[in-house]
Amino acid sequence: MILALNGSPRVKGNTATMLQSALDGAASVGKETKLVQLYRLNYKGCISCFSCKLKTGIHGHCAMKDDLSPILEMMEQADALIFGSPIYYGDVTPEMLALEHRFLFSHMLYNREKRWVFPRRIPSAFIYTFGVTADQTESVLSPFAGVHARMGDMLGVETKVCCSANAWQFSDYSLYEADRYDPVEKKKYHEEIFPEDCRKAFELGRSLALMDL
Ligand SMILES: Cc1cc2nc3c(=O)[nH]c(=O)nc-3n(C[C@H](O)[C@H](O)[C@H](O)COP(=O)(O)O)c2cc1C
Repeated sequence: MILALNGSPRVKGNTATMLQSALDGAASVGKETKLVQLYRLNYKGCISCFSCKLKTGIHGHCAMKDDLSPILEMMEQADALIFGSPIYYGDVTPEMLALEHRFLFSHMLYNREKRWVFPRRIPSAFIYTFGVTADQTESVLSPFAGVHARMGDMLGVETKVCCSANAWQFSDYSLYEADRYDPVEKKKYHEEIFPEDCRKAFELGRSLALMDL
C-alpha cells in the first residue's frame, strides 16, 4: 500500500490535490493507496521520553499513545510513503513536523554502527506547496536537505521531492486583503501550471509504485 500523509489543514487544498495525484499515479499501476489527513487527528510531537532508545525497549516504536500511533504502525507496513505539506513561515506545518520527529526519532539509535532500525527498504517522497513564485523554489526547499537525507538513510532509498509554487489560496481574491497578488495571474497559474505540477506528482507516485527494490 502506498501511504500519503497530508500535513495541510485544508483537506481539499493544493497539498491534498498534489498528494491525491501522486496516489492516482500509484493506483494507475495497480497499487492500493491511502491518504491520511493529519489535521483530523489529535496528537503531539515527540516528548523526549527516550523509550525508543532503552536497551530493554522496542526499537522503532514510538511509546506515545495518541491518534498518531495507528498511523505510525501503518507507515511501518507501507510500500512507500509520501509526505505532503504546505510551507508555513519557511517550514513544514507543525503537524507534519511532529509526525517527522516521531517517525524518525523512534527509528534512530545513538549507536555508531547500526543507526536506523526501519525493517525494510521502501521509497519515499516529499511534496511541498507554497505561496511564493517558482523562481524561489531553491531557497524554499534548501532547508529540507537534512530531513530528506535522514529519511533516505532510514528507509534505505534516496527520497524524491516534488513541489508546486504560487499556491491558489482563495477562490475569490476580491474578498481578501491581498493586493500584492494579481487575481487574473493567480487564476491563470492555477488553471495552467498547477495541473502540470499535479501531473508531475502523478508521475512521482507512479515511479514510487514501480520501484523494484
Ligand atoms: C500560517 C501560514 C504561513 C505561510 N508561510 C508561507 C511561507 O513562509 N512561504 C510561502 O511561500 N508561503 C507561505 N504560506 C502560504 C502557504 O504555503 C499556501 O497557502 C499553501 O501552500 C497552500 O496549500 P494548501 O491549499 O494545501 O493549504 C503560508 C500560509 C499560512 C497559512
